[in-house]
Order: sequence, then C-alpha cells, then structure tokens
Amino acid sequence: MHNPWLYDERRQVGTDYANESRVGEYDAGMQRLRDVSREVEIAAQALSLSPEAAVWEIGCGTGELAMGLAIRCRHVYATDVSPAMVSLARRKAAERNLQNVSFEEGGFLAGYAPREPVQAAVSQLTLHHLPDLWKLTALRRVARCLAPDGRFYLRDVVYPSGVPDYDAYFAGLVAAVRCAAGDELAEQTIAHIREEYSTFSWIIEEMLKQAGFTVVDRLTDRFTTAYTCIRAGR
Ligand SMILES: C[S@@+](CC[C@H](N)C(=O)[O-])C[C@H]1O[C@@H](n2cnc3c(N)ncnc32)[C@H](O)[C@@H]1O
Repeated sequence: MHNPWLYDERRQVGTDYANESRVGEYDAGMQRLRDVSREVEIAAQALSLSPEAAVWEIGCGTGELAMGLAIRCRHVYATDVSPAMVSLARRKAAERNLQNVSFEEGGFLAGYAPREPVQAAVSQLTLHHLPDLWKLTALRRVARCLAPDGRFYLRDVVYPSGVPDYDAYFAGLVAAVRCAAGDELAEQTIAHIREEYSTFSWIIEEMLKQAGFTVVDRLTDRFTTAYTCIRAGR
C-alpha cells in the first residue's frame, strides 16, 4: 500500500515516453545519435561487471544498454515506467533471442524491483524525471536492492555547481547542442531545462552520500555527469 503523498512517477514529464510513436522515434534517434556499444563498455567497466553478476537497470527505455550488459553478466532486470518502452524492449530482446534480460514495468520509487540483491545497478538519463524531493527516496531504494559493496552507475544531465550566471550557462549549453547536433536537439534541450527536473551537482552528490553511496569516479562531458558509486558494506 503506497503513501497517499507518493509522487506519481508514471505521469510523463517533458517528453511523453508513454506514447508509442514517440518511443519508436526515440529508439531510432538513439541508434543514430549515440554510440551504444561504447556506453555499454563504459557502464560495464564502471560496474566491474562479472559473469555471475545480476544487474538492475532503472529507466531502461528501449533496452539497448540492458541487452548490451546482459551479454556480460548472469541477468539484467530492466525496468521502466512506460509500458510502451517496456513492450518495445521486450520485442527487441525476443528478436535477438536474449534469455537473461527481463523487462518489467517499474520505477525508481515503486513497482517491479529485483527480488534478489543485485551486484550492480545502473540508470542513464532518468533520475531527472523526478523532482528533487523524490530523488533521495529513489536513490535509497536503489541502495537497498544492492548487495553489500554493490556498484551503482548513475549518468544524467546535471548542472555544475558555482556557476555565477545560469542564464548565460544555459544559453551556452543550447548553442553548443545546436552546433553539434542541430535545431531539433537544441529545442529539446530548451524544453528539458524548462520542464524536467535536472538539478545541480552538489544536490545529486549530497543525495548519493545520504543514500549510503561513496562516489569513486565522476566523469563529466558537456551535457551529462556519470557517477560510479559503491554501496558501503552494511
Ligand atoms: C530519456 S529516457 C532514457 C532511456 C534510457 N535510459 C536511455 O539512456 O536511452 C528516460 C526514460 O526514463 C523513464 N522514466 C521516467 N521516469 C521514471 C521513473 N521514475 N522510474 C523509471 N523510469 C522512468 C521514461 O519512461 C524513459 O524511458
């Protein structure tokens, strides 16, 4: 039974990832704009993934990272709040005949979570869908599902701390996206800043600490920061 004040994480924020045609476009864009095998490689290394490990991915989208990691571990439990995302990911895994990855409807806050303690958890470009108030609850739930000394790889759009003028910072960010990837992505970036809940690095880092994680590596590119964390033994 959920508390009546629990945030409704199935309500889409910004882009509507519950819409089937939008999900198809997202998948095509992901193949075009991103180097999936490199993302898999980086996440697998950050997680020190072993063939015996079980992994939980939160916000798996169309499943490319989960399917890439599944080849390197025992099982990937991949979850997403969007039924359209889950159903496309399941279809792709069946086409590729992958048996050790499962896709279920579930979110950071509630819904399906692995029934066994996992050695690794991963989430890319998803935590910003939650307002700050709920990010800590989400990170604590991830920590609870991890085996002692389990690893968590969190990558998201995070705004740097200590910027004297955030309007100037956002203008530079949008201009850089427009130059690198064109008008459509620049407009999406504007909508992201306006409507979604990406937040400051000092907030994310304090929340990771309060959830019981130690950040052992931090990698920032122009748009995202990736944190490699260890859940200290309990
Ligand atoms: C920008 S997409 C990222 C998908 C994928 N991780 C990737 O890197 O391509 C955000 C995903 O998070 C999902 N999502 C939004 N809020 C969520 C939540 N609270 N828990 C789990 N998934 C969520 C959306 O349905 C969507 O599939």
